[in-house]
Amino acid sequence: MTLKKEPLILAIESSCDDTSAAVMQGRRVLSNVVNTQEIHESYGGVVPELASRAHQKSIVPVIHRALSEANIEKKELDAIAYTRGPGLLGSLLVGGSFAKSLSIALDIPLIDVNHMQAHILAHFIEDPRQVAPNFPLLSLTVSGGHTQLVLVKDYFELEVLGETLDDAVGECFDKSAKLLGFDYPGGPQIDHWAQQGNPKAFQFGLPKVPDLDFSFSGLKTGIAKVIQQSVRNDAEFIINNKADLCASIQEAIIEVLQKKLLKALKTTGVKHLVLSGGVAANSGIRNRLKELSDKHHFKLHLPPFEYCTDNAAMIGIVGVLKFERGDYSEISHSSTARYNLTQL
Ligand code: KG4
Ligand code: ZN
Repeated sequence: MTLKKEPLILAIESSCDDTSAAVMQGRRVLSNVVNTQEIHESYGGVVPELASRAHQKSIVPVIHRALSEANIEKKELDAIAYTRGPGLLGSLLVGGSFAKSLSIALDIPLIDVNHMQAHILAHFIEDPRQVAPNFPLLSLTVSGGHTQLVLVKDYFELEVLGETLDDAVGECFDKSAKLLGFDYPGGPQIDHWAQQGNPKAFQFGLPKVPDLDFSFSGLKTGIAKVIQQSVRNDAEFIINNKADLCASIQEAIIEVLQKKLLKALKTTGVKHLVLSGGVAANSGIRNRLKELSDKHHFKLHLPPFEYCTDNAAMIGIVGVLKFERGDYSEISHSSTARYNLTQL
């Protein structure tokens, strides 16, 4: 009997400000290289034009490193998977064009991947640090660009239950952090300072959005108003209240997420919750979800940090699942800034 060889897939992610390449052998990660662009720090956010140029610069070295860390030669690859969207178009085009050229040169299948599906299915990467969830599951993806609640019935059967109508959670963290004087991205700084502060010190008006959708722009404006008014009366206000401000901002964001999450769990009756996206690193969110999972009897899945933030291994796991189905992409498929989960 011959053993079935697990496919070797090179995955490329370039949707925002991380250039990443991974090599998968079946569902296992052989390498996962991420190059985060630092050029945006001084601009207070990602500058699309600079992001595409930086991808252009780093894509070849990043792919070389991924292949060499995996100890794989290009000719051994069975397929190339890449992020088709959603994301910044110029950034997507760099990874997409590279993936297409390489698939033609090596004469192997090309597989296009939806970035949001990849965040969710990162939980199915075979890794001793995580246990795969059961279907049906509820997914909450929280990042700098997205806030989305999805009901996942199977790998390819996903239903968006709610999403943000304006800013993403990460944007709310980062823009509030900017008001407090932190560099971009300031989310981790808020998390750090919040641990020493009083979450009830300041109150901000919470959004009233129907159903399972989110809104963070009103909250962001409310936070800005409180800070600007207080600074007018006391120039030292931020310095003297930094920890309390961070704790209160983080608490307001957690309350918004918690309300929608509990509603979604109740409506769907689902017992497995997966958290993804860069904001999933937030210790306050993680702790609150752990408390809620005990109280409301659902199983919480928190992936290792490197699978939360943008990375190519998550593109690779979707690539492998599509490869198993023979679901290949046409070379004519174009990268797309908007890419709905229902168009898989
Ligand atoms: O998923 P990600 O790496 O990139 C995309 O936006 O796609 O997420 C980055 C976001 C940023 O907004 C960053 O501030 C936020 O994740 N973030 C955090 C923490 N770590 C990263 N926000 C709050 N607390 C953290 N510990
Ligand atoms: Zn992402």
